[in-house]
Amino acid sequence: MTTVEQSIGAPLTRVDGPQKVTGAARYAYEFPTPDITYVWPVQSTIARGRVTEVDATAALALPGVLTVLEPGTAPRLNTEAEGVSADLFVLQSREVAYHGQIVAAVVATSLESAREAAASVRVSYAPEPHDVVLRADHEAAYVPEKVTDGSPGFVERGDVEAALAAAAVRTDATYTTPVEHVSPMEPHATIASWEEDRLTLHDSNQGPHMAAQLMAALFGLDPGAVEVVAEHIGGGFGSKGIPRSPAVLAALAARVVARPVKIALTRQQMFALVPHRAPTIQRIRLGAGRDGRLTAIDHESVQPRSRIVEFADQTVSSTRMMYAAPAVRTTVKLAPLDVMTPAWFRAPGHTPGMFALESAVDELACELGIDPVELRVRNEPELDPGTGKPFSSRGLVACLREGARRFGWERRDPAPGVRREGRWLVGTGVAASHHPDYTMPSTAVARAEPDGTFVVRVGAVDLGTGARTALTQVAADALAVPRERVRLEIGRASLGMAAFAGGSMGTSSWGWAVHKACRALLEEVSGHAGVVPDGGLEVVADTTEDLRERAELSRHTFGAQFAQVRVDGDTGEIRVDRMLGVFAAGRILNPRTARSQFLGAMTMGLSMALLEVGEVDPGFGDFANHDFAGYHIAANADVPRMEAHWLDERDNRLNPVGGKGIGELGIVGTAAAIANAFHHATGVRVRDLPIRIERSR
Ligand code: MOS
Repeated sequence: MTTVEQSIGAPLTRVDGPQKVTGAARYAYEFPTPDITYVWPVQSTIARGRVTEVDATAALALPGVLTVLEPGTAPRLNTEAEGVSADLFVLQSREVAYHGQIVAAVVATSLESAREAAASVRVSYAPEPHDVVLRADHEAAYVPEKVTDGSPGFVERGDVEAALAAAAVRTDATYTTPVEHVSPMEPHATIASWEEDRLTLHDSNQGPHMAAQLMAALFGLDPGAVEVVAEHIGGGFGSKGIPRSPAVLAALAARVVARPVKIALTRQQMFALVPHRAPTIQRIRLGAGRDGRLTAIDHESVQPRSRIVEFADQTVSSTRMMYAAPAVRTTVKLAPLDVMTPAWFRAPGHTPGMFALESAVDELACELGIDPVELRVRNEPELDPGTGKPFSSRGLVACLREGARRFGWERRDPAPGVRREGRWLVGTGVAASHHPDYTMPSTAVARAEPDGTFVVRVGAVDLGTGARTALTQVAADALAVPRERVRLEIGRASLGMAAFAGGSMGTSSWGWAVHKACRALLEEVSGHAGVVPDGGLEVVADTTEDLRERAELSRHTFGAQFAQVRVDGDTGEIRVDRMLGVFAAGRILNPRTARSQFLGAMTMGLSMALLEVGEVDPGFGDFANHDFAGYHIAANADVPRMEAHWLDERDNRLNPVGGKGIGELGIVGTAAAIANAFHHATGVRVRDLPIRIERSR
């Protein structure tokens, strides 16, 4: 007997790396498809009103144009389908709900013809006055019954007003976060092909199984009649969590012209046709004793929704469980505006919410004269304060301590605005990070071949994060074979029911099913006296029951973010010198890809803190910036010395593999750490993101 080297925990390079760097990896738009045609959307130039006429005469006269789709003539979708967002009801109505909405589309035999013809379609409107500006006192704002994580829009525990009135020390401040645009490297792209009543989509998305189900419902098809293929994806960040309107448009167009249709959004189209992160206006009031123990937390977030769909980011959900306080009130309010429906975006809700909460905690620390690391440690709860359930594991304090040690925090002078290095004012800040650990049922198939190799099939996708690699490691260990003998097949709806790559749940959800299938296969093989017959052996596993039987625990990931910034005392220029994150997220399956995920997320946090903002133009009714010249994202020169570390967290009450989701944790708290460091450097508290030169004094 030889022992097989364990795969999990090894810093394996990506199994699809060579394919990607040689250009062999195929993305949605790249599948060679005979008889292909192209669709180009015509977008609304008003933010609210009605389409009165679509004049396609000029467009139809252009060479190569096959058809012009418009609200009156586009095929009908099943708008009664349960669970399908009205955002996907493309060309089903003449009503315009936001600027940039698809109001017509041209299908042509070349991309150039489609684009030129789309520009010549004349759309007439009956416009109505629009309202695209979020205000804290918006007259139509209301508390939704539920927010996106399923929890109520309003929760109060204890008597917050009484506790605030009685508190020895209080803070009360309002924080704002702007619209942010997802901007994955690969814009949304789809190839749609019909064969009778079967639809195939090569689509860049975060969950082929879910995408197929939604598209089947929308087109009134059997769930098995839709195949969605997503072999390689160049980032999604939430925006590819479910199909968006361009994918629906491609399927509609392909139905009409009875030929395959391609769509690939331009970078500029991404800003209007793909949902953004909702801006927030958040007021946080804290009450505490002189000992630093929180007695009251009141957190209210006002956010926009569209006129057509209620979407309520879980902006206050972290606040319900971060700190021990006897009185906690959390409220989300939604203001219906004439904007596109916002959606999931890079740790939705938790990211803007924790910017506000972790800034407020820093303000309280200053008020009390207590070190901000120590203040957080003093408010560590025994049980989940929101649910009363025990945590499966909670590594916040350990992350704060380890981060403080590595960062050199103990040498910090708490006085703000006093450290100078030449022109520069220098400061350091800390914030906590948190993300729930979600798991969804999945299925997987494991197959043994007579030649001693194994094939594992799971309806997973790899957004570029390394899921394909981590799942190969999980399978190899479960089968107790070297990973070279395992081949993984992912990226298709027909591979079976599976979680989507969102909410940081992918690898833990799929990994569980993969582990279960592989273990069952080993038993099957030993049932055949260890000999795999000529036809191979195959087993299917489903984790639905396992999840149902899991203990009622509060499962979350935590982290501590540290930052050092410098601010030019003359110009206000802000640079981040150093960032350091320490995370507690269960067993880390692959330290190489995990580190990249943490660093990538921290970079997005830096980008949020200093750069990213969708500028809403009230008159125009849309974003004034809609390309990378006007919408800035952190690039290499913005990213300082950055370190990601993690604790060796063993939590055997998660899933058999022991991993928690890590994709989103790294962005949460980053912006607050930078804003807190900015205050420490300058003595100026900036409560509105991004922190820009004009806000720095
Ligand atoms: Mo992520 S924003 O939950 O896909």
